[in-house]
Amino acid sequence: MTDTPTVEPTKADSLSMRDNRTGREYDIPITDGTIRAADLRQIGVKGEPGLATYDPGFVNTASCRSAITFIDGDLGILEYRGYPIEQLAEQSTFLEVAYLLLHGELPTQAQLDEWVLSITYHTFIHENLKQFIEGFRYDAHPMGMLMATVSALSTFYPAASKIDDPENRMLQITRLIAKMPTLGAFAYRHQQGKPYVYPDNSLSYTANFLAMLFKMSEPTYQADERLVHALEVLFILHADHEQNCSTNAVRSIGSSQVDPYSAVAGGIAALYGPLHGGANEAVLAMLKRIGTTEDIPDFIAGVKDGKEKLMGFGHRVYKNYDPRAKIIKKACDDVFEVTGVNPLLKIAQELEKIALEDEYFVKRKLYPNVDFYSGLIYEALQFPAEMFTVLFAIGRTPGWLAQWSELVQDKEQKIARPKQVYTGIRSRDFVPMSER
Ligand code: SDX
Repeated sequence: MTDTPTVEPTKADSLSMRDNRTGREYDIPITDGTIRAADLRQIGVKGEPGLATYDPGFVNTASCRSAITFIDGDLGILEYRGYPIEQLAEQSTFLEVAYLLLHGELPTQAQLDEWVLSITYHTFIHENLKQFIEGFRYDAHPMGMLMATVSALSTFYPAASKIDDPENRMLQITRLIAKMPTLGAFAYRHQQGKPYVYPDNSLSYTANFLAMLFKMSEPTYQADERLVHALEVLFILHADHEQNCSTNAVRSIGSSQVDPYSAVAGGIAALYGPLHGGANEAVLAMLKRIGTTEDIPDFIAGVKDGKEKLMGFGHRVYKNYDPRAKIIKKACDDVFEVTGVNPLLKIAQELEKIALEDEYFVKRKLYPNVDFYSGLIYEALQFPAEMFTVLFAIGRTPGWLAQWSELVQDKEQKIARPKQVYTGIRSRDFVPMSER
């Protein structure tokens, strides 16, 4: 955690407020565009606790100071450690981006070679984990299997609880980034009733993942390089996104000083939800349900009547086009060159066109987000819809772990324990059964 120099606030850097209940006035310092919620505690009336903030869903609350990812939602800007996502998607690799997120700087060639080697040699999972996966029904959702197997890793590496040891942290981080594709592929093969394919350490991270998913009797599975590249770009685009729902879950769980596997298992649980990482799967179901471009107006009417949401649209931060959606839309062309165009693309493009011109969406600043087009690529790559969020989780793992590592080293952080506004009944006596 780089200590940003604290500048002493001047009177100008403060909020003067008056509590009309008591007539008392307060000057609250403003730093980095925020006021400390703890500074409000001094504002109160006799016999009552001081003021707190109330912010369901943390719509306007900063939970931490972070140097990892910068987003400007109005301008549609996304940067990892200051590098624009467009340049990283164009010129970097997923493991290089993972290194950047974790260490704060792009690696030298020697650092990258060592990093790739260490990831490559941690791709195998303990054989006992296969029994875990065998315990799931054939039709279990792979996100449920991933959540369970990642949390199980904490029992295979009990030393991971030594979170204050930097070397140990990096060993566990390396293990988890390396094993996510293996766990995701094994979950998929279980669902398909196919034998597991063990990691092939002669392949790149993403090519190895595709081999573990799709290899059958051929000696070596060689995915089309254009498809490997497209998936690599998708992993880069999903690698981090500051304090999103699942990262907030990882940080909240991590604040209890539990091991990183348990914290990331909680992040996977949060990502599973249809409002978050599950949206890519929901977008495909929505496009299939619409069926034809002629049926789009009826669907849009249903959205405007509040009967459902336009999945893959809208974002808590982006009130402009999600820069990742633009890059994914372009990646669609590259993939469809190999696989043939996904027939749902036409419906998606028409839906986007209509929505971007419709007052309901314009007024609410609803634009396509990262999930709107990604599912079309995943389906073209032969992934079943239930695997889409697993792909999101594999991509997001370096981000979750970089954020977790930053939390663990942040001297300001404490265990997450928000307040509440109590709305229940107070102080009543127990009623014996005979009197109920
Ligand atoms: C991800 O946070 C991140 O960074 C997440 C993510 C990441 O990389 O980690 O970017 C990944 O989760 C992307 C989002 C994927 N989810 C979806 O596509 C699901 C559909 N989108 C919505 O559910 C919604 O837009 C959210 C959850 C993404 C954001 O919700 P907010 O910020 O809480 O906004 P809101 O629900 O308060 O919406 C504001 C208004 C409401 O209308 P009114 O009550 O004012 O009339 O916009 C409406 C909402 O009803 N609205 C939508 C809508 N999204 C918001 N209406 C129809 N369709 C939508 N998709």
